[in-house]
Amino acid sequence: MSANERRITTSVLVIGTGGAGLRAAIELAEVGTDVLVIGKRPRLDAHTSLAAGGINAALGTMDPADSWQQHAADTIKESYFLADPRTVEIVAKEAERGIADLVRFGMDFAREDDGRISQRFFGAHTYRRTAFAGDYTGLAIQRALVTRAEQLDVRILDGLYVTRILVKDGAAFGAYAFDLTDGTRYLLHADAVILAAGGHTRIWRRTSSRRDENNGDSFRLAVDAGARLRDAELVQFHPSGLLEPENAAGTLVSEAARGEGGILRNALGERFMERYDPERMELSTRDRVALASYSEIKAGRGTPHGGVWLDVSHLPRETIMTRLPRVYQTLLELQMLDITTDPIEVAPTAHYSMGGVWVRPEDHGTDVDGLYAIGEAASGLHGANRLGGNSLIELLVYGRITARAAAEHSACLQTHRRSREAEDEAREEVRALVVSDGRENVRALQRAVRDTMTEHAGVVRDEAGLLAGLLDVEEIEGRAESVGIHPDIAGFQDLAHAFDLKASLLAARATLECALERRETRGCHNRGDHPDLDPDLQVNLVWSPAIGVVREEIAPVPAELARLIRDEVSTEGKLVE
Ligand code: FUM
Repeated sequence: MSANERRITTSVLVIGTGGAGLRAAIELAEVGTDVLVIGKRPRLDAHTSLAAGGINAALGTMDPADSWQQHAADTIKESYFLADPRTVEIVAKEAERGIADLVRFGMDFAREDDGRISQRFFGAHTYRRTAFAGDYTGLAIQRALVTRAEQLDVRILDGLYVTRILVKDGAAFGAYAFDLTDGTRYLLHADAVILAAGGHTRIWRRTSSRRDENNGDSFRLAVDAGARLRDAELVQFHPSGLLEPENAAGTLVSEAARGEGGILRNALGERFMERYDPERMELSTRDRVALASYSEIKAGRGTPHGGVWLDVSHLPRETIMTRLPRVYQTLLELQMLDITTDPIEVAPTAHYSMGGVWVRPEDHGTDVDGLYAIGEAASGLHGANRLGGNSLIELLVYGRITARAAAEHSACLQTHRRSREAEDEAREEVRALVVSDGRENVRALQRAVRDTMTEHAGVVRDEAGLLAGLLDVEEIEGRAESVGIHPDIAGFQDLAHAFDLKASLLAARATLECALERRETRGCHNRGDHPDLDPDLQVNLVWSPAIGVVREEIAPVPAELARLIRDEVSTEGKLVE
């Protein structure tokens, strides 16, 4: 152990201070299990705080006919039958309890005059089932969870970057980390580890994630520990990301804007969704709206900066101020644009990793004993198209379930597993990077990954592009051997970027290899060279670096849910050029 290394032991280590990690930690504390939570950002500013428009549960406050079964059926149908029905059932059934937990933690939902929790339409839901707090839903949830965790004296360490999950004989026993400000190393011993460190959408250029978020950390940590990934190619492009300014490109304009009545138009002023989904229009599924916008732009009917117009200016001012306050503020702040009078220029933005670490449906355990993954890090719920509002409820439901499984795992352990060799390897990895003095610049290489993914693995893909993307990734992997890392007085961000780069490269490779194998168009995954849905590809794609892509069968949809799924899903109307 070096002089600047701290050692902490806990029963369950949670990596990530967003909604999933905090919800798990609260459950652990409430059942009396020792827990430590670590995250790289300040806890109130974790990525969940950016989640905007809402959280789903069939509460039936606005539409009493709604049911958990219908929520599950909508989720399965709109996943293009790639969601795991067992996972979907668990989330839809437990959703009401998830909302009740939030209320118990002090969350302030928007309510009707008579006190009922308000629920609004989000795209492709049969009923109004998206509960919300303006368009700051994620922030309100994050605050409620932080408050509850602090009431329970949960130990939370902000500003720690995890470099490795420690494993002995296929079992996780902790993690290695460093402090982003002073570089202090942390050797963290635990009986179980819950990975809640997000997805990989920052590896595209236009993204709703900030610079140090969602670079694929969860993917790399899990894979290096011996876990596998599932459906890495299934990335949700949200239809409305900002184009300007360049350094905030991709910033989200919540789907709530369309849920409240916002209209999409092309540069000719045409309400183009009439051509793509005349029934659901702007409230069609995200994959369809994103592809429709993309197609309009490609066809030369885009706005001056290469987007489409999203217009809410016809809505009552009060609706905008109470239901879309963040969109209003964001546009003023970033573009000095008043959305009560002017339309917003938007284009698809990489928003959510619908695939992620392979997990079991019942407890979100991975292939590694004692390692769990939850939230955006995990896979199983969303398939090829996520319903807006389903991610926030997923993290509450599985935060609780997984915490209980991890607590049980810890309670049943007879001996504490440790490996001196694994710890030394983790130390050496950090040491070697800190002294590296190559000529390659980490930030430039990160940019190169983003350029490649944007060019070759965006809304529409094809074989030639994906193969070119893999060649680029190989070239960047080579250059990444010669990086120079320069921690300075300001902190160890450069070291974090180097690990982010490793993660981004792994996530990019997994995405491209799975995208190549999925020779069809399904949901978010549009193959220009394979424009039809292939029934033989109604499977999940499981990836590991050693084996590559393997097909995995999906469990059958229970009859009770199948009869609520009204129409077949098809690619008709998607107009892939
Ligand atoms: O548009 C939104 O408010 C995003 C919601 C979500 O991704 O669930």
